[in-house]
Amino acid sequence: MENQFEPEILAFCCKYCAYAAADLAGSMRLSYPSNIKVIQVPCTGRVDVLHLLKAFEDGADGVYVAGCLEGECHFLKGNLRVKKRVGYVKKILGQIGIEPERVAMYNLSSAMGPRFAEIAQEMTEIIRALGPSSIKLARKKVA
Ligand code: FES
Repeated sequence: MENQFEPEILAFCCKYCAYAAADLAGSMRLSYPSNIKVIQVPCTGRVDVLHLLKAFEDGADGVYVAGCLEGECHFLKGNLRVKKRVGYVKKILGQIGIEPERVAMYNLSSAMGPRFAEIAQEMTEIIRALGPSSIKLARKKVA
């Protein structure tokens, strides 16, 4: 049987919504791919461009940010600020020849456990189809 590429995906999740939704997905016994490594943040507004780029440098094949629904950020505009940063990182990736689809922004509420599982599945399928990140491959060649 052919070995299927298993991507490493990092998810920056706001503790008020996406992280709580991940918990809910767990309580509901919804399964989602184990490719996702969740990092809890107090608000997605804390996630900077450098955090996103560093994740790729450290070997992630895909990265996404999951914040509160627009208009519902507990720190008012954190999710809107990070949305712009995600857009900026997409642009940078495109300019250096890396698929911009490797980075994404999602919005959800704490009650959206099934949506959390769906996003994890969706992102895993997108990255699996793209294959390993060229940054990761280049690092392996150097090492
Ligand atoms: Fe959730 Fe800001 S508190 S994105």
